[in-house]
Amino acid sequence: MPSKARILDGNSESEIDECVEMLRAGSVIGIPTETVYGLAAIATNSSAINLVFTIKERPTSHPLILHIADVSMLDDWATNISSEARALCKKFWPGPLTLILHKSDKVLTEVTGGRDTVAIRCPNHSVTTKLLKKLNDAVVAPSANKFGKVSPTTAKHVVNDLGSDISIVLDGGDCSIGLESTIIDCTTTPPQLLRTGAITAEQILRECNITVVSASGESRAPGMLEKHYAPVCRVVLVSSSQEGLIEAQRYVADGFKVRLLDLTEDLDMFARLLYSSLRTADKDGINVAIVVRAPMKGIGFAINERLEKAANSFLK
Ligand code: TXA
Ligand code: MG
Repeated sequence: MPSKARILDGNSESEIDECVEMLRAGSVIGIPTETVYGLAAIATNSSAINLVFTIKERPTSHPLILHIADVSMLDDWATNISSEARALCKKFWPGPLTLILHKSDKVLTEVTGGRDTVAIRCPNHSVTTKLLKKLNDAVVAPSANKFGKVSPTTAKHVVNDLGSDISIVLDGGDCSIGLESTIIDCTTTPPQLLRTGAITAEQILRECNITVVSASGESRAPGMLEKHYAPVCRVVLVSSSQEGLIEAQRYVADGFKVRLLDLTEDLDMFARLLYSSLRTADKDGINVAIVVRAPMKGIGFAINERLEKAANSFLK
């Protein structure tokens, strides 16, 4: 289907106003955040939220994240907020951290898939903060890609993926982080890490003196599927460039079009470029992307988590 989406300039007040009107009217639009682009709908309109699931082709049992302009809106959407959760907001918001909290009565069932908890985050992106302030309401915003695919880190990626389903993408430039937010469940004691991201458990311990443990129990977040973040090409993981070259020769000998990706020199850059590199590989008709794993430190945990899931997508 042909694209009908327009890219609007996030630096233009009138274009942000147009987005506010679209959201109020129940439309779904693409918005920038510092992590990845989101597919936004106003959080108080059930049919707008349902449209998000339809466009993403995502099962309605997979709950969405509420995005708020600042911490003052938190108590509208959550109750019984623990002192740990308050400390995390204070330290890391606005920023790439999503908290699972007990939901308030205001949260619609469609947002949480019927759960009594809700995911909330306050993004750190000036364009989206301005949008949310003008809207004076929260939006739901999953990553603006089809379910299970690679998240978008530019407005153009959103148009490529969803341009036939939405009419507007608000352009806020390339995402500065490039991987989805860290998710911490603050309804358990101790809090649990449900998804790794730019903010690490080690950093939370160091800066807030809060111990966050790995998720236990059965699939705590539906997004913790084994398979996810999948490009079209096959992703093969290696531990070094040397190993990558040997693997590459093997695949080339079998007739595959291969690309070797080693971004381990600079982990922030690795995170920022990972998804666009996988998208470029697909565009170039690459069959096998051989990627050198990140060292297990800082954002390297999150990079490797995404890579493992992308690689797993070809095992079944
Ligand atoms: O960085 C981000 O978080 C991006 C940008 C757009 O803000 N959004 C994002 O949303 O990654 P999404 O929908 O792709 O991922 C949301 C994750 C899913 O894994 C979902 O299962 C989990 O959050 N989640 C949402 N509500 C939850 C809840 N009540 N309990 C447990 N997990 C929840
Ligand atoms: Mg996603």
